[in-house]
Amino acid sequence: MAKTIALAGKGGVGKTTICGMLIKYLAEHNKKPILAVDADANENLNEVLGMEIEDTLGSIREEMAQAELAKNNPIPLGMTKQEYAEMKFADALSEGDDYDLLVMGRTQGKGCYCFVNGILSSQVAKYAGNYKYIVVDNEAGMEHISRGVLPRVDTVIIVSDCSRRGVMTAGRIYDLAKELDLGAKEIKLIINRAPASGASETVLETVKECGMDLAGILPHDEELFEYDGEGKPTAELPKENHFKAELYKLFDSMNL
Ligand SMILES: Nc1ncnc2c1ncn2[C@@H]1O[C@H](COP(=O)(O)OP(=O)(O)OP(=O)(O)O)[C@@H](O)[C@H]1O
Ligand SMILES: [Mg+2]
Repeated sequence: MAKTIALAGKGGVGKTTICGMLIKYLAEHNKKPILAVDADANENLNEVLGMEIEDTLGSIREEMAQAELAKNNPIPLGMTKQEYAEMKFADALSEGDDYDLLVMGRTQGKGCYCFVNGILSSQVAKYAGNYKYIVVDNEAGMEHISRGVLPRVDTVIIVSDCSRRGVMTAGRIYDLAKELDLGAKEIKLIINRAPASGASETVLETVKECGMDLAGILPHDEELFEYDGEGKPTAELPKENHFKAELYKLFDSMNL
């Protein structure tokens, strides 16, 4: 049974950056095979990892819907619509040497993400048995997890910025993660982008009040910020990078 680790947290706190480095960490520690899942409709885990992607579940679904509208039936004779869809959705899995990446993406236009969420859910369930680790980057908030996109999660890593209100938001996500029947054995908090002076007493007090288990505090890192600004894959920062070194130490302590 694959161990599933999901990242959660409010917008822009560093979920995808930490998720990308977690995937690299697991691969470097021979915890393979790994399925990386980008469950953010605005996909960007591939950029952090430096991996090219061609298709997403959303874009494939869109293409099929367009073909149907144009009455241009691409389904080969003797194949059911369901079988054809299954075959096409397999294209959304990009295979790499160290990990495979499944990208949800979105369909065009208005409407809800539920449909593509459902496809993601069944694809993850289908692949789960082939992997030792499944690492899921989520969009901001707890929508995905609450909608039951993931059938089961072993570890939830909540990422927060270093502010009191940020930690309070993380606390609400924590409460929701506990309420939902995900089977999470551990829920950890990572505070990211702390100033050189570290987290304030108030912030640390708030963590305690919310009852969260603080795995560690990571610094704001200029080199990481510049790397990202130049469009370089931040998960590939050298090991000597201060942020990466601190994050790897934190993962070492997490018993992953
Ligand atoms: N410790 C850090 N020091 C400097 N920059 C950072 C740090 N952590 C993250 N960043 C930068 O902050 C920005 C947001 O990070 P990221 O995309 O990982 O956040 P996110 O939580 O996944 O955002 P979203 O909610 O939009 O998915 C990126 O430009 C990233 O490079
Ligand atoms: Mg993100």
